[in-house]
Amino acid sequence: MSIDWTKQHNGVHRASDEDLKKYMPDVYQLVFESFPENMEDFTWDVKVHMLMPSQWPCIPNWHYDNVPRVNNVQDWGLVRLDLPMYLWLSGLPLTEFRKDGVISTIEPETWKRFTQADEHRGTRSESFQWRGFIRATHKDILPANPSGDNVLRRHSQVYLDVGNFAW
Ligand SMILES: [Fe+2]
Repeated sequence: MSIDWTKQHNGVHRASDEDLKKYMPDVYQLVFESFPENMEDFTWDVKVHMLMPSQWPCIPNWHYDNVPRVNNVQDWGLVRLDLPMYLWLSGLPLTEFRKDGVISTIEPETWKRFTQADEHRGTRSESFQWRGFIRATHKDILPANPSGDNVLRRHSQVYLDVGNFAW
């Protein structure tokens, strides 16, 4: 299954598998054919970017995903390291992970299993390109939006290094 990312919606946020099927049927089909676990057990985030050189499609600094916050402070007592998340990218720029000081780059079009304790960061686009991002989060880490409303993304932001940005 190969997706034409120029033809997709901007993405979904906290979608159930049914929402994903409804709003992004091409992405649903890709997941259905390749995802290593039961889709119904996961909450789905998808982002589509039309990138230019020097743009980051995701957080450029080392960080963790979905660590619960209490009063805006990360609470590590609430993480579920027994439960997985998965990341899938259509292509460049690729996310980097850091473990015990060793940095590795994920493979495109491959499900990368990770947890809330796995540090990672985005990398910068070097060219003009479309990029599809899919993240699956186990429902017991983050449930799908219960109303099913507003799961369709209206915007995708990019991050810039203002020191080298040029129009
Ligand atoms: Fe992240």
